Amino acid sequence: MNAPIKRPFDVEALRADFPILRREVQGRPLVYLDNAASAQKPEVVIGAMSNAMRGSYANVHRGLHTLANETTEAFESARNSVARFIGASAASEIVFTKGGTQAINIVAAGIDIQPGDEIVLSVMEHHSNIVPWHFLRERKGAVLRWLDIDEDGRIDLDALDALIGARTKMVAITHMSNVLGAPTPAADIVRIAHAKGAPVLLDGCQRAVHGRLDVTALDVDFYAFTGHKLYGPTGIGVLYGKAERLAALAPFEGGGEMIDIVEQGRVLYNAPPHRFEAGTPPILEAIGLKAAIDWFTNQDRAVIEAHEGTLRERAMAALGDLDWVTLHGRAPDKGAIIAFSVAGAHPHDVAQILDRQGVAVRAGHHCAQPLMQRLGVSATARASFACYNRLDEVDALIEALHKARKLLS
Ligand SMILES: Cc1ncc(COP(=O)(O)O)c(C=O)c1O
Repeated sequence: MNAPIKRPFDVEALRADFPILRREVQGRPLVYLDNAASAQKPEVVIGAMSNAMRGSYANVHRGLHTLANETTEAFESARNSVARFIGASAASEIVFTKGGTQAINIVAAGIDIQPGDEIVLSVMEHHSNIVPWHFLRERKGAVLRWLDIDEDGRIDLDALDALIGARTKMVAITHMSNVLGAPTPAADIVRIAHAKGAPVLLDGCQRAVHGRLDVTALDVDFYAFTGHKLYGPTGIGVLYGKAERLAALAPFEGGGEMIDIVEQGRVLYNAPPHRFEAGTPPILEAIGLKAAIDWFTNQDRAVIEAHEGTLRERAMAALGDLDWVTLHGRAPDKGAIIAFSVAGAHPHDVAQILDRQGVAVRAGHHCAQPLMQRLGVSATARASFACYNRLDEVDALIEALHKARKLLS
């Protein structure tokens, strides 16, 4: 996906937008390599949320006063920004949720499932794209059909084709693994599923950050992603759904705003997207997400992708040179997400020793236990890069790993 960098990239200028990157950890400059878990926030996001609270804030919709109208405008303008960002054909196809997890839960809870209906998912899904489907298995008798991957996270399209049948009610697959960094061939997945009449949900929580998106061109039915990995705030995510797919989905939660008429004997629901936004929505978070998306789209995305490609290649090469490190996932087009194991050391111990040197990585099962089982490990360490990471931070990771190895062996 990311070609090596060709144009110069002023990473320092970009880093200046992120106040937290100026802090120290354990008496050393912070080297933040936990971006796949959550990314840091640029000043414009912090400012947009705080300015809203200082200058124009009220509850949204149905307001008959200035602040309510201004806030509604800001909230709905965030929906427009998201729609443009992912290439949706209308803002009404964008549902604000509290995160990527809730976006997937809305779809799983809203589709019609009869006993024996099938859901196809891959073994490298995040638990957010597994457990909502397990609910359907437990509660409605759905059958989960699992698509295997190779060691690098590539899927076999013929195997996918063979798994989809007349009873497939959803093909739910990640657009980029949060562990292996492997992107999935979304256009092929959609083509194969649609040829058999099955809808597709892509979990784009990682991919939305690491590449450009056009959900309309992809022809995908549902696309889920989360704000906090995209330099935005926590507490907000997005469910994109084709208009006709959202219209066919039963509402997830009941409450204010998602209704048209409520009487003692009946209830009529509002149209999407509001049908899926019961209660007071994440107003400030939507304003923050808009600021993040506007900031991100104002950057030269091609240069950022190339920079992330350079970071990934440098890290993969340096880690690959260490015969006591095992890399998990070597797809050449992978995102800058690198899972690895250190021989003879538990990933948690590795992460703690790296932290003492100011280097933040994640260790554990990464909410992907079926993938851990597939890889034959219980946990891994994971370094994940963002647009603001520098090449010398790769070197800091390697140096810190050498120290960890000495201490742990
Ligand atoms: C691939 C993937 N899907 C879903 C999620 C869940 O996102 P959230 O926790 O923001 O709901 C994550 C978060 O790590 C993820 O990496």
